Amino acid sequence: MAVGERPLLSNRASSEISNDRDLAEEDALLTGQRTSKSTARSWKLWREIGLFVWAVIATAVVIVLAVLYQKHQDSRDHTALPSGKRNLIFMVSDGMGPTSLSLTRSFNQFRNGSPWSEQLVIDQHLIGQSRTRSSSSLITDSAAGATAFSCARKSYNGAISVTPDHEPCGTVLEAAKRAGYMTGLVVTTRITDATPACFASHVNMRSEEDRIAEQMVGDYPLGRVVDLMLGGGRCHFLPNTTEDSCRSDNKDIVAMAKENGYNYISSRSDFDALKSGAAVNLPILGLFAQTDIPYEIDRRNEEDIYPSLDEMALTALSALSKATEKSDKGFFLMIEGSRIDHAGHHNDPAAQVHEVLAYDKAFASVLQFLENDSTEGIMVSTSDHETGGLAAARQLHDSYPEYLWYPGPLANASHSAERLTQEYQKFLSTSPSEDAIVVHVQEAFSSGLGIKDASEDEINNIVKNPNSAQYGFSDAISRRSQTGWSTHGHSAADVNIYSSDPKTAFALVGNHENTEVGDFLRDYLDVDVESVTKELKEKGVDLMVEGVNGTRVGWMGPMPMEGQRLDGQNHLATYGGDFRRRGLRHGEGCGCGM
Ligand SMILES: *[C@@H]1O[C@H](CO)[C@@H](O)[C@H](O)[C@H]1NC(C)=O
Ligand SMILES: *[C@@H]1O[C@H](CO)[C@@H](O)[C@H](O)[C@H]1NC(C)=O
Ligand SMILES: *[C@@H]1O[C@H](CO)[C@@H](O)[C@H](O)[C@H]1NC(C)=O
Ligand SMILES: *[C@@H]1O[C@H](CO)[C@@H](O)[C@H](O)[C@H]1NC(C)=O
Ligand SMILES: [Zn+2]
Repeated sequence: MAVGERPLLSNRASSEISNDRDLAEEDALLTGQRTSKSTARSWKLWREIGLFVWAVIATAVVIVLAVLYQKHQDSRDHTALPSGKRNLIFMVSDGMGPTSLSLTRSFNQFRNGSPWSEQLVIDQHLIGQSRTRSSSSLITDSAAGATAFSCARKSYNGAISVTPDHEPCGTVLEAAKRAGYMTGLVVTTRITDATPACFASHVNMRSEEDRIAEQMVGDYPLGRVVDLMLGGGRCHFLPNTTEDSCRSDNKDIVAMAKENGYNYISSRSDFDALKSGAAVNLPILGLFAQTDIPYEIDRRNEEDIYPSLDEMALTALSALSKATEKSDKGFFLMIEGSRIDHAGHHNDPAAQVHEVLAYDKAFASVLQFLENDSTEGIMVSTSDHETGGLAAARQLHDSYPEYLWYPGPLANASHSAERLTQEYQKFLSTSPSEDAIVVHVQEAFSSGLGIKDASEDEINNIVKNPNSAQYGFSDAISRRSQTGWSTHGHSAADVNIYSSDPKTAFALVGNHENTEVGDFLRDYLDVDVESVTKELKEKGVDLMVEGVNGTRVGWMGPMPMEGQRLDGQNHLATYGGDFRRRGLRHGEGCGCGM
């Protein structure tokens, strides 16, 4: 029972406390008021003696505890981190705050008919919390968030492993590669998106994904540093002369990757040929979607097209483990549940719970890998920030709300709002009649979301205003489940930290700054990140590359415009505006301003 709910002074008559003095003491504890004077002098004397003895004992205990704690700290510093061969798996649940887990846990229990004691796997490995602010805002974006992990430095929103004064900062992955570790990145978004980009590239603005693609395959001062990349974002690697490209120039980054030694794969059959990692030849670049890999809620119905996060994670673990079998160094692998964040941006609770479950599955696989593998290893998992200002509650009417949240409407949805919107826009491009449009939208509600009682308003809004379709579909589920959202962007909430081994990850137990997560990664691997920073600065000093309109700019690309750096809302605009594929209107806009 919380203190505030204590029936403070009630039931006194029936209380076991019988004497007046004890009652007065209790009042003092509960109300903070002084007790009334005791009348007995001898009682006062004994009380003072008692207090004195108590003070002496308490002081002694504090001193002993302090000494023991110091001893513990010393021994931890010297012995807890392994000294031999080791593997580090760093997992990022982009945009997943604590409420995403409440939502997903309840959803899972509802769907499985399991008891309320059932937890997710990840729930059982909670060790701490991370504070997420960036150098430019209390609300970070994924770029500054990942820079805190990769460089252990705070930087501005939009920074891809560059400092606020636009110097490159060496990353844990780059330093691991230099030290002889094998390295990998596994994501469900574009491999050029902010989180993976921060481990193996350096640009002043996260929107420079074309440049990021070049750097990630080795066209930058350090050469090739990533041995394995699996994810989406093919369009940034293809020249603008091809149909699937979203590059603004005609550079062929796949060809560049091959020149640098990469085996390039891009299809489900290519992926299956890797035999869950047994047949991987490193280095490998696997790009399985033109942009992002579809949400899990959609992907699972299209398993013959896209690999899941878990499949990619298992493949990477097995390949990197095999490749380091005979090495005295292990590997560093970053695995990101990238689109938990997107479901938050889209305010789509049904898409989100399936993204979190997919992450939980990969999380369980990593735990199992660590258990099986004879090499020492650890997994640390955290989020860069919360997205959506998600609440497992929503007040729908003026009257005082009932305390209810319903997982049912999430369980009935079989499509994301994003996918329904893509299908809707494709349908609209065939110039259908207004009646046909109404029927299409009704059908989307009923068979896509399991909503049979869509109101006239809900349907009309989407018919009359196709740009708001995605928000309309998400909102229908959110209202019926009474899920609340406070933003289409990020929030400043603290996020959780998890680990397979809380003893070794003791430095992350409790509440920490996100840069301390970055500190732990480099400390665990025992790598020299500062010398990488030095190398980047020295080799990059005169390195110019092509900017816009035939100008030359430094190798980290153009600077953000004045003021832009402080704009905490850039994330949504940036990733929404990313899809520059010619001639294709994509259904990304949330329509939330309309
Ligand atoms: C493709 O890229 C080249 C430069 O590499 C540019 O001159 C051309 O305008 C681009 N074409 C399109 C259609 O964007
Ligand atoms: C761990 O070992 C078990 C038993 O050999 C095997 O079934 C499982 O696939 C392994 N899992 C991983 C992630 O290596
Ligand atoms: C989910 O679908 C089932 C079967 O169509 C239906 O009986 C139930 O009412 C639906 N639940 C919600 C919350 O819409
Ligand atoms: C590049 O040139 C075009 C056409 O001259 C101009 O509209 C655009 O503003 C220029 N872009 C930059 C960033 O200078
Ligand atoms: Zn993010």
